[in-house]
Amino acid sequence: MKMNIIHFDKLNSTNAYGLEHFEELSHGDVITTDIQLKGRGRFDRVWSGDFSDDIYMSIIIKPDNSDFPFPNLTQYLSVVTNRVLNRDYVIKSNIKWPNDILFEGKKLAGILSEGKIINGRLAGVVLGIGINVNREVFDDLPNAISLKNITGKENDKNILIETILKEFESGYAEFATDGFLSIMEEYRMMCRFNGGKLKLTASFNDGDYVFERINSDGTISVRDERNDIHKIISGDIQC
Ligand code: BTN
Repeated sequence: MKMNIIHFDKLNSTNAYGLEHFEELSHGDVITTDIQLKGRGRFDRVWSGDFSDDIYMSIIIKPDNSDFPFPNLTQYLSVVTNRVLNRDYVIKSNIKWPNDILFEGKKLAGILSEGKIINGRLAGVVLGIGINVNREVFDDLPNAISLKNITGKENDKNILIETILKEFESGYAEFATDGFLSIMEEYRMMCRFNGGKLKLTASFNDGDYVFERINSDGTISVRDERNDIHKIISGDIQC
């Protein structure tokens, strides 16, 4: 996989750009922007910034195998990103299932993948990530934190982008064939469930549960108050 960065000073959304230009873009192209005016988050949240200090990027993925593990792609990127943050910035960030990157419960990075359907079939995805790098103040986002807030110093966002992309590329072939199993052990170590109690929203079975396990397909199993086990495929958790 050859990764090729296409940079803009300002875009509405790197994901939207990737989807609009999907056909002319190649597998491995990476859209980045300094300023993102109408960034999209999971569950219709907003992810924008005009500080030019943070990372907004989207990777174009056009798999050539029909059994490509699309559902686990955001988890793959979360492991790669968290690995770089833990190793190179020596911070104890972790993953909140399925793919948020948190530091002491506050959000440091978010990931959103959006599929591109062409002629009725999934042709690929635009895999977007936003990382709070050098922003210091989050007025209306009390639950957000930046790398600068954590490390106390400015960090070169281009070095962080390049390191993440290098790491993404190096494990990609194995992920494309083996799927979640290629990252399962590392993902399980990085995932935090804070004692086990969790509140599930944006899913079919919203409610309060106790965490049981991370399954070998990247889903989680949770236990309700009657001790029934539920397998959760998607959703948002507070824990
Ligand atoms: C989340 O809600 O946690 C996901 C946030 C994803 C934001 C990134 S920033 C780059 C890319 N372009 C977008 O419009 N969104 C994603």
